[in-house]
Amino acid sequence: MTTKKSETKSSGKFERPDGRKVNELRPIWAKVGVVPNADGSAIYASGDTIAIAAVYGPKQMHPQHSQNPEKGTLRCTYLMNSFSVNERIKPGPNRRSMEISKITEWALEPVLMLKDFPSQVIDVHINIIQADAGTRCAGINAASMALAHAGVPMKSLVTSVSAGKLDKTLVIDLDKEEEDFEEGEGPTDIPLSFTGDGKITHMQLDGKISPAQLKEAVEMARESAKEIHKIQVKALKDSVEGDKK
Ligand code: CDP
Repeated sequence: MTTKKSETKSSGKFERPDGRKVNELRPIWAKVGVVPNADGSAIYASGDTIAIAAVYGPKQMHPQHSQNPEKGTLRCTYLMNSFSVNERIKPGPNRRSMEISKITEWALEPVLMLKDFPSQVIDVHINIIQADAGTRCAGINAASMALAHAGVPMKSLVTSVSAGKLDKTLVIDLDKEEEDFEEGEGPTDIPLSFTGDGKITHMQLDGKISPAQLKEAVEMARESAKEIHKIQVKALKDSVEGDKK
């Protein structure tokens, strides 16, 4: 498949490769209850990026020396499958997956009442079955929905989306072609996660951006997160309605 390259038209207007508006998300598809063996599960797809999350627990932490008697432990394991990209990647954990696992824990922990689960663990397994950038955000969105689906007490869902800058233009939800954008100032990628009332639980920045534009990018992401949050809630409600039938 060939995609149109990002370009700045002679009018000076910036065009995204897939023709999206600067604040337009990729098409989203979300559903809970996709892994019957898990206590809770969800699939979250944003364009060609697809994440599945499965939650097991809260359950007694083993081995015993890993238990924290003060509070429960959230243990996230992010894995990008070797078949998720065109060029097969080495299977199994690596530095990147360990970093993203840790970041996912930090993004989700603020909404969990871990103090209510001393010595216990909540295991969240995140599998990326197809990757086209934004996999950490898709993984966090799926994980948040899977935790709610598992009935884990939460203050709110967590919603994640990446804001970014292509040359000088701020955009939302970068795909891989945009993450590889090379013109002008190049790409800046800012993955962010928010609570339901818009508080930031996670933020990263890869690239360069001025403080003023960063502020603007965060606000764009916060607005987009509201759209995603509605889709997450609808998927959870649909599953409850489905159970009633
Ligand atoms: O996926 P995310 O944007 O959260 O993280 P990234 O490390 O910035 O990776 C961006 C994208 O690069 C991934 O979503 C994949 O599409 C691609 N990638 C890859 O093709 N091979 C890798 N080993 C790592 C990432």
